Amino acid sequence: MRLKDKGIIVTGGASGIGAATVRRIVAEGGRAVIADLDREGGEALVNELGEDKARYVETDVFNTEQVDRLFDEAEAFCGVDGVFNNAGIGAITPSSECSDEDWQKVIDINLTGVFKIARKALQVMQPKGAGSIVNCASILGHIGQSQTPAYSAAKGGVLNITRTLALETALDGIRVNSISPGYIDTPILEALDEESLEGLKNLHAVKRLGKPEEIAAPVVFLLSDEASFITGTDLLVDGGFTAGKS
Ligand SMILES: NC(=O)c1ccc[n+]([C@@H]2O[C@H](COP(=O)([O-])OP(=O)(O)OC[C@H]3O[C@@H](n4cnc5c(N)ncnc54)[C@H](O)[C@@H]3O)[C@@H](O)[C@H]2O)c1
Repeated sequence: MRLKDKGIIVTGGASGIGAATVRRIVAEGGRAVIADLDREGGEALVNELGEDKARYVETDVFNTEQVDRLFDEAEAFCGVDGVFNNAGIGAITPSSECSDEDWQKVIDINLTGVFKIARKALQVMQPKGAGSIVNCASILGHIGQSQTPAYSAAKGGVLNITRTLALETALDGIRVNSISPGYIDTPILEALDEESLEGLKNLHAVKRLGKPEEIAAPVVFLLSDEASFITGTDLLVDGGFTAGKS
């Protein structure tokens, strides 16, 4: 029971990696607050896990007022011991065709949203002198990939803001880390055709996509006290994608 009696906010918790992490948090003895735009998915997960274990709070991570309300509701439900800052969208556009709107939408959610959630988390955690934040980056924060200008920029930003936040808060008892998944089989990949998916599998040394549960497990580790000496770092969980060519 790594998260016994801990309260954790999971942004983007209604689907994919976030939903798998919510299930794992509850399995590890914690309670989870699902912060997501997807009411249907969030409420279905609460029904599955039980209203005493999980709560859904409709939240757009880019909306400061909604982020404030999210933390108020989470504090009342279970307290905020940890945050998985995971909400994000995918985007594939040749850079020469990426409009201002395409660029801004991805940056707003995948980078500014991560900052707004982390900023509020620090305001709640610093007076308590404890807390753990895990930001969701990506292999695309570490390496380039064509046609992902805004996504790659946002994920690279997540890696470095993680270091900054960790340095600022290490003496406050707060740890801040990021996780960088390889390609994981979730709805975010729905835009890709079968051929592209096969190609992506082959880029991983293990020749397959990851499962959401394979990200949830290391996220729970980073959130837990077992990771008490880990802060300001990134954990690549990518089936060997970034290890090199095999
Ligand atoms: N699946 C992959 O291959 C992969 C790889 C690396 C990183 N990631 C990252 O993992 C995270 C989770 O993605 P996933 O693969 O589970 O995708 P997903 O589409 O299954 O889940 C993303 C969730 O975020 C929510 N969301 C989107 N915008 C939001 C907003 N403004 N406010 C609140 N919630 C919002 C969506 O409603 C959805 O429930 C993302 O940050 C993504 O960039 C995914």
